[in-house]
This record gives sequence, C-alpha cells and structure tokens, in this order.
Amino acid sequence: MASIVLRNVDKIYAGGVKAVNGLNLDIKDGEFMVLVGPSGCGKSTALRMIAGLEDISGGEISIGDRVVNHLPPKDRDIAMVFQNYALYPHMTVEENLAFGLKLRKMPKAEIAKRVQEAAKMLGLDQYLKRKPAALSGGQRQRVAMGRAIVREPQAFLMDEPLSNLDAKLRVSMRASLNTLHERLGVTTVYVTHDQVEAMTLGDRVCVLRDGLLQQVDTPQNLFDSPVNLFVAGFMGSPSMNFVNAELVRSDGGAAVAFAGYKLPVPDSTFAEKPGLDQYLGKKLILGIRPSDFEDAVAANGSSGGWARIPTRAEVTEELGSEINVLFLIDAPPVEHKDTVAAQDTGDDEEAALPLVGDKSLWTARVNARSHVRPGQNIELAVDTHNLHFFDTDSGLAIGHPANVGR
Ligand SMILES: Nc1ncnc2c1ncn2[C@@H]1O[C@H](COP(=O)(O)OP(=O)(O)OP(=O)(O)O)[C@@H](O)[C@H]1O
Ligand SMILES: [Mg+2]
Repeated sequence: MASIVLRNVDKIYAGGVKAVNGLNLDIKDGEFMVLVGPSGCGKSTALRMIAGLEDISGGEISIGDRVVNHLPPKDRDIAMVFQNYALYPHMTVEENLAFGLKLRKMPKAEIAKRVQEAAKMLGLDQYLKRKPAALSGGQRQRVAMGRAIVREPQAFLMDEPLSNLDAKLRVSMRASLNTLHERLGVTTVYVTHDQVEAMTLGDRVCVLRDGLLQQVDTPQNLFDSPVNLFVAGFMGSPSMNFVNAELVRSDGGAAVAFAGYKLPVPDSTFAEKPGLDQYLGKKLILGIRPSDFEDAVAANGSSGGWARIPTRAEVTEELGSEINVLFLIDAPPVEHKDTVAAQDTGDDEEAALPLVGDKSLWTARVNARSHVRPGQNIELAVDTHNLHFFDTDSGLAIGHPANVGR
C-alpha cells in the first residue's frame, strides 16, 4: 500500500485542450479518494496519468516514495478497473482471475490461494468454473474487481466501474466496494460523475471542474461547507436551491430577504462565517438545501424555532421515507455560470423540468408523514442555521475558511 501525491500536475492534449490544470492532491496511504465532476472535467485523464497510461505535461506524480513520472504502467504496482472491463470470454472465472498472475510467473500454489481468497471475498466461489457469458452483469464486474484484487497492488485505480450496471446492482456493488475497502485497506482512487457514489464511497472527495480542483474534503464537509456555488450545486441530490437575495437588518436582527420572504439569520451564522457582516445591506446569493426544509405541520417539536415559508406544492415526488415537494418562488433563477455548470452533469433528468418565466422551481425534502398533495398550500419550515451565502460576482462561499482573505 502507498500514498499517492500529485504536485502541480498538468495535462495538455495534442490540440491544446488543458484537461488537467495544476492539480495538487495528497492521497493518504489506505485512503479511498473519489474524483468527481461533470463530464469532461478531467477525471479520467487524472486517473490515467496516475496509472501511467497517459504522459503528464507538467508536474510530478509519486506513488509511495517513488516519483513515477517516467515509470511504465506495469512498474507502478497499481491495478486498474474500468467501466468497460474486458474479461476473457473463453476462460472460466477462475482462469480469468489467475491469468495476470500466471503472466507474472507466480508459483501455482500462491495463485490458487489468492484466487480462492478473492473469490470468497467477492462471493464468486460457486461461479469459478463458469465462463463470463454465463454470469450476470454484477457478477462479471466482480470478476473484473477480483482480477485487480489478486494482484495485491499498492493501489487500485477505478474509472466508473459501476456505471454499466443497473441502479439496484450499483447500490449493492457500492456496498461491496465499501466492505472490500475496509477489509483490504488498499489506497484507492475512484472516478465517478455520480455524486451519490462519491458521497457514499469516499473517505474524501475531490471535486474537479474544467481541469481545476475546486475542493477536496470529506463528503460531510463538502455537503455542509461547499467552497463555491459550483460545488454547492454539484454535490447533493436534489440540488441546493439558489436565489438572488439581500442581507438586511430588521427589528429582530439580521435577515435575508428574497422573493417576498424574509428569513432571520442567526448570530451564530455571523460568527461561523467571518466577513458575512460586510454584506449587510448588500446583495448576495442564498442557497438552501432541500433537506433543510420540513413540512411545518408534520414537523412538530424539532423545528419549532425554524422560520416559516408559506407556499404551494406544484409537484410532489413520494420516495417512501421522504417526499420531494417542488414549489415556485417569485424570483428569477440565478443565472451564475457556476450554478449552470453544476447542473450540467451529463445524465440528469431533472433538467427536463419546464422553465417558468421569472419564477424559480425549488425543492423541499420533507418527511413522508406530510400529507401534502400537488396543488395544495403548504407551510414549509426552514432550518435557518444551515443557510449558505455566496458572493454574487465570484460565486465563492462567504466566510468559508478557504475563501477568507481571498
Ligand atoms: N486523447 C485525447 N485527446 C484530446 N483531448 C482529450 C483526449 N482525451 C480527453 N480529452 C479531453 O480532455 C478533457 C477531459 O477528458 P476526460 O476524459 O479526462 O474527462 P472526464 O472527466 O473523465 O469525463 P467523463 O465523465 O465524460 O468520462 C475533455 O475536454 C476531453 O475532450
Ligand atoms: Mg471519464
């Protein structure tokens, strides 16, 4: 096992595309690091440079204590798993698993031992004599994983390994990957553009945009304290709601005004976000996560002190344990380049919602105990301790440690 360090790593493809731009990343020994971002942001390029499948145009990559800039892939002691894994169709599962080790002239007994262990770990014991054609998609993907595991490499590099699987299988494979990582503790760099995968798998998550690192942090910190509008809009599903707002002084203290509403801003928020007081009397962009809403009726007790927003449910999506309530607010959608880019995830269906002139469509995620139906009025409670504020010009989160003094 080994740490992986990237120092000012650039990739400029022939033709001049700067796919990765001055990337710095310290991946700890045994860490599960996820690279996430919209299509074309440079995730695969970064991974392929670590693997040695792509030359680097500038900077330095180290695996363990070796600089590997000029080492060919086979000497880097890493194993890759791709989206389009190719199993050998004429070989059994067992032979597929053993193949790489045979090439390396490993003793037969050692090969048998490793294949047995990997098969057991992946629940493939009973399929060892089958050929890939007689396996399900998930089982094939596990064989591909197994081929990486038997090599006992210093690091796993995985590029969207689950994206060819159906949703249910993806969830169960995600769980297996988590268990596997806990058991083996091998340093893993995992590429995905699925932010749910990123949140559930990563010890830390690195968010990229146009080849530039936006933020690298634990999933919880990315969710709670995104560094800018782009990360705020990209991480979290459904996405954070945004609106142009104004920070004002009112009788009870500070408040944020938007679309005819006025939410109190607690003193603790000013303490947590240094520099926010400078925005009093000024415009900024307000962000509220869907999960920071609750149906005021269903939310007896816990949200008693929360602010209230009366509105009307346009659409409700019942998810079993929760309900997404889509509602309109009387303010035009925020047209910041960062909020637009964050929505551009390549495969989202949400973007298909009709635009509604100068109103914005927001989402509140409320408890399933709520009996709200489309077309009904609803009073939403808002947790005002979790409001997010962004500078209108730069899109940076106001008071975020990484932005203070910028
Ligand atoms: N061989 C290449 N030659 C020229 N440009 C390339 C090459 N490979 C990738 N690019 C460009 O580099 C940028 C980053 O590509 P990359 O494949 O790393 O993106 P990605 O984040 O993995 O996207 P996706 O989520 O779609 O897989 C893109 O603009 C892409 O068009
Ligand atoms: Mg890719």
